[in-house]
Amino acid sequence: MKINTFQKKNNWKGVKKNYLVAFVFDSPKIKDSVLAEIERFFSQSISNTKILKDFTGEVGKTISVNFTGSKSIDGITLIGLGDINKFNIDLLRRVSGITYRELNEKKIKIAAILIISEHFKSVSEYEIGESIAEGLILSSFSYTLQTSSKPENSISEITLAITEAKNIKNYQKGISDAVSVCEQVNMARELISSPANHMTPTIIANKAKFIASSIPRIKCKIITADEAKKKGMGSFLSVTKGSSEPAKIIILEYNPTAMRKLKTVALVGKGVTFDSGGISLKPAKDMHKMKYDMAGGAAVIGTIAAVARLKLPVRVVGIIPATENLPDGKATKPGDIVKSLSGKTIEIQNTDAEGRLILADCLTYALRFKPSAIIDIATLTGACVIALGSHAMGMMSNNEKLKKLLNEAGNNTHERVWELPVWDDYFDDIKSDVADIKNIGDGSAGTIAGAMFLKQFVDEVPWVHLDIAGTAWIEKKHDYLARGASGSGIRLFVKFLSLFAKDNN
Ligand code: BES
Ligand code: ZN
Ligand code: ZN
Repeated sequence: MKINTFQKKNNWKGVKKNYLVAFVFDSPKIKDSVLAEIERFFSQSISNTKILKDFTGEVGKTISVNFTGSKSIDGITLIGLGDINKFNIDLLRRVSGITYRELNEKKIKIAAILIISEHFKSVSEYEIGESIAEGLILSSFSYTLQTSSKPENSISEITLAITEAKNIKNYQKGISDAVSVCEQVNMARELISSPANHMTPTIIANKAKFIASSIPRIKCKIITADEAKKKGMGSFLSVTKGSSEPAKIIILEYNPTAMRKLKTVALVGKGVTFDSGGISLKPAKDMHKMKYDMAGGAAVIGTIAAVARLKLPVRVVGIIPATENLPDGKATKPGDIVKSLSGKTIEIQNTDAEGRLILADCLTYALRFKPSAIIDIATLTGACVIALGSHAMGMMSNNEKLKKLLNEAGNNTHERVWELPVWDDYFDDIKSDVADIKNIGDGSAGTIAGAMFLKQFVDEVPWVHLDIAGTAWIEKKHDYLARGASGSGIRLFVKFLSLFAKDNN
């Protein structure tokens, strides 16, 4: 799908699109101005189409009219934006997501979206282009079904038809940035949706290598299980032992310039390609969903690819421990004690709390890159799904500045974060009688217990833990995200990294 822009001159001559979508606020005056502009767009009266007149503009409501037999006009769809005083940028993503679905259902190939500039004065031209493109591209994703009949996407070209632009390039930049990022979000969604037999640690590692070879300034290195053993990554290896799929630690490094010394952000993403729970086996119901336990890893890969395409001025190191978590004669048993890369010993009381075990060694490993910030992202706890559902990630951190930036990035992208505390008081819960720490708490505050465990491996480096167990997979479809893998974290990280780069250059 191509997304273009067209700026109205004195009239709309030159924009050859027979299908028009217009966004309408819940206000009779605004609606009249939209209908008048539609008439100018088609140089044709539409005053006899009563149903357009009856439309109110309630959020997300749509109305479509087809014009059969007309040469210049095939149809019009109006989509409601609601109360203009409650307008925010996410509403533009939502109506654009709806636009994509509506056009696709109608099998339309080429269409225009009418933007009456004066209705969107509260947001920048860049943001309008960006959010509309995001809504369209995110909405266009569907997992490549492994069935004999495949759904088809009809739309090939959408033009933003803008009444008045201060500078059309602002819109175009917003669109092209959104394309760079959202293509990676959709790439990650494909990885996350793929079942565990199609998305092994080896396949993810190959994907990472491919990304490094096809996008400039990205390097990829793979640490094998043997190498991890030599390094002393006993915590990571304790999880890999039950699986016969070779485990890997994937290191992706985006370095925009070899000349200047830029600050480094390390991103660590949980890449469990299937989590059965191991010897602490999960119940059968819903176990199939644990193919998405690598969503954190996919988010890190997608982020590195996106920031490299945007050429953001910050060095980003991505570390993805990738493994299956399975029961086996060789698998780790509850009660086993292992030594982590940090030197700390861990009593594994529950093999289903495996995410923190693989992340622990990777957080320690991340310190070698001398990062100014470490952020880990993981589908870590069911407790986070209970606490926050799918509308916010759990955020736990030892650093105010990072929290603030992530909050800002979260509100901007609508990938919102919500803080839970990591006070020292919670440390008691993960004390072990036989090792330095144990991998589960006492059953209360499960999300925080996971974070307290991870916190032991970052020394004093500014760090954030994001629990995406609830946001990575959505059960109810939403205006621009289908049910299933959401690709959660990538848009948040990209926005965060651009704010971080601005603050640190
Ligand atoms: N991958 C799961 C967490 C999870 C649950 C993600 C539901 C998405 C949806 C994680 O490895 C896990 O099993 N955590 C345990 C921890 C417990 C044993 C302390 C959990 O949440 O039950
Ligand atoms: Zn688990
Ligand atoms: Zn898991």
